[in-house]
Amino acid sequence: MSSEPAITIDTAPLSRLRVPVHLGVIMDGNGRWAKARGKRRTEGHIEGVKALRTLVELCINYGVRNVTVFSFSSENWTRPREEITFIFNLLRRFVASDLQKLIRNNVRVRIIGARSGLEASLVRLIDDVEAKTAINTGLTLIVAFNYGGKAEITDATRLIAREVAAGRLHPDDITEATIERSLYTHGIPDPELIIRTSGEQRISNFLLWQAAYSEFVFVEENWPDFDEASFLRVLQTFSLRDRRFGGVEAKLP
Ligand code: FPP
Repeated sequence: MSSEPAITIDTAPLSRLRVPVHLGVIMDGNGRWAKARGKRRTEGHIEGVKALRTLVELCINYGVRNVTVFSFSSENWTRPREEITFIFNLLRRFVASDLQKLIRNNVRVRIIGARSGLEASLVRLIDDVEAKTAINTGLTLIVAFNYGGKAEITDATRLIAREVAAGRLHPDDITEATIERSLYTHGIPDPELIIRTSGEQRISNFLLWQAAYSEFVFVEENWPDFDEASFLRVLQTFSLRDRRFGGVEAKLP
């Protein structure tokens, strides 16, 4: 009989894993992933959708309650027309191929961003996805599409100004809560953790108000390479962070 020693696996880091209630993800590097393989940028976006599916499954399995993914920013309009059309069609295809599975998995979908500038058929599709998943109580998947943080705060300001102009709100009664309930993300807690892939270290107009106290973890992998191992490494890094919220001791928000 062989007397090889038993292998011991250190599971301690996993047992201390802290899972954010709301995770934000800046999915960056699809183009670089494709370029490194001699492929077209659009092929990187197709792989990006696969990584998004994996992320949704990971969030369900590890108990993340809300995940916001940055899929098209209001600044992305400067990209070539062909690439913009491709990304818009990806959203349509993602909905066509994945909606039933999302519903079976009790996922609620919210799509945040400006509706103006989008084709009427796309706006109908967005409204339809939101309506069909509205009663789901599991993971909330928030897709930031045609989204910009400054535009979101501007839209919120406009809503509040209308309330004031109509005499329904006094300027002295405007609080942080007034602004929060006027944002696209109303009702969703702020993200405790924001991940950005591809080695870039910027916020790029993502959830500007909501990220006031978020932890940021920047990883080197391009988005299509982000997998379960990457996800667990990020959660381990997050678990070791000491969140102080401007005070001296970590406390829950
Ligand atoms: C990031 O890589 C990609 C985007 C901002 C757009 C495409 C996003 C996806 C395919 C994910 C899922 C999308 C939908 C609509 C469900 P990049 O193009 O900025 O890469 P680069 O910085 O390497 O050029």
